[in-house]
Amino acid sequence: MDKLLIGGGGPLDGEIRISGAKNSALPILACTLLADGPMSIGNMPHLNDVTTMLALLRCMGVGITIGEKMCVEIDANALTELTAPYELVRTMRASILVLGPMLARFGEANVSFPGGCAIGSRPVDIHLRGLEAMGATIEVDEGYIRAKSDGRLKGAHIFMDVVTVGGTENLVMAAVLAEGQTILENAAREPEVVDLCQCMVAMGAKIEGIGTSTLVVTGVEKLIGCHYDVMPDRIETGTYLVAAAATRGRVRLKDTRADILEAVLLKLEEAGAELSYGEGWIELDMKGKRPKAVNLRTAPYPAFPTDMQAQFTAMNAVAEGTATVVETIFENRLIQIHELNRMGAQITLEGNTAIITGVERLNAAPVMATDLRASASLVIAGLCANGDTLIDRIYHIDRGYECIEEKVQLLGGTIRRIAV
Ligand code: EPZ
Repeated sequence: MDKLLIGGGGPLDGEIRISGAKNSALPILACTLLADGPMSIGNMPHLNDVTTMLALLRCMGVGITIGEKMCVEIDANALTELTAPYELVRTMRASILVLGPMLARFGEANVSFPGGCAIGSRPVDIHLRGLEAMGATIEVDEGYIRAKSDGRLKGAHIFMDVVTVGGTENLVMAAVLAEGQTILENAAREPEVVDLCQCMVAMGAKIEGIGTSTLVVTGVEKLIGCHYDVMPDRIETGTYLVAAAATRGRVRLKDTRADILEAVLLKLEEAGAELSYGEGWIELDMKGKRPKAVNLRTAPYPAFPTDMQAQFTAMNAVAEGTATVVETIFENRLIQIHELNRMGAQITLEGNTAIITGVERLNAAPVMATDLRASASLVIAGLCANGDTLIDRIYHIDRGYECIEEKVQLLGGTIRRIAV
């Protein structure tokens, strides 16, 4: 199992390109099942999770070719199998996103029930209740969700009592081919949900209220194939901005957008970062200054994103002052603090709140990644530590950060993958 060796050093300084968004690419790949014709998806990130989703579609018989620069061509008309098998779903929970489109297009879907993960139990009750409201019959049998619809799904008025990104995505993908109108109340507003909706509108779907918490979908008979480019990854963008802030450095990020991570940018300014923007780029410069500790509380978009919490926890660990970080989305997403404390961080945990008193510098230690964003926080911590930090279980990080060694090295960081 590979490990990452991070050399503690000075400020990051450089320029890199941001990849396509993992959390937009995955639902968009799933929605290609809805198209009555070939689709091509551009700006696809080369990540393990994308590879898994492509493997899942391929094992269902979907025609897939990978073109230049990871432009993926997909033809769902070739589909032969209506089952998403356990061995793929267990490696990537987002496989559940094929449930809605399969049911809408083919009237049947058998998807292995996604388990929980390190950050929480990750239930899918809202996905299933919404599909039942649209007329599906759903049973869970031997670890599989077995969903069927007798003819087309029917439009329904659905209130989601928790803001769920995946639940919103699954239900809007089911609604676009349903008979009649579907109203999704308390829908997630994340930019990745917007990207998915815009892709389906390009395929001929009728969706109003995109970007708001109420989506109104008028079902159509058929969606056509088209080309669509995935949006930039706002979490990868935020991760490298925080790494530059924590190391008192400067970074310029290309092929990204500032309008999709405003809550993060405001927190970075509060930490003392000087930010500048242009067409498709963001620059952060700490002017060599130590970051100030910032309080934060995660919540659904447009509030501060839970996927950026671990990275800011690492920055607060070396910041000036004391701050609190409150995680309100997942019940176990502060687990990385135990590894940060092994590196000399001063963090105490009270329920879903971490109280962090910054230290001048961390100390390298062998640490273990527990989930994707916790891995990123350990890389940031390693860059701010005396000595070399060895991070174990880095398969987590390969799921969501394209070419992380190359990008960190381009910024002047010392990072090396060690095969053991
Ligand atoms: C998506 O996960 C993202 N993953 C996550 O990113 C992200 O952290 C999360 O949204 C929140 O923004 C992808 O898009 C592939 P949720 P998802 O359903 O859809 C509860 C990363 O690091 N809930 O919005 O699984 C749930 O328990 C990953 O890139 C129910 O109770 O998250 C949680 O408390 C990690 N019932 C809350 O909603 C349901 O049926 C938000 O979860 C569904 C969810």
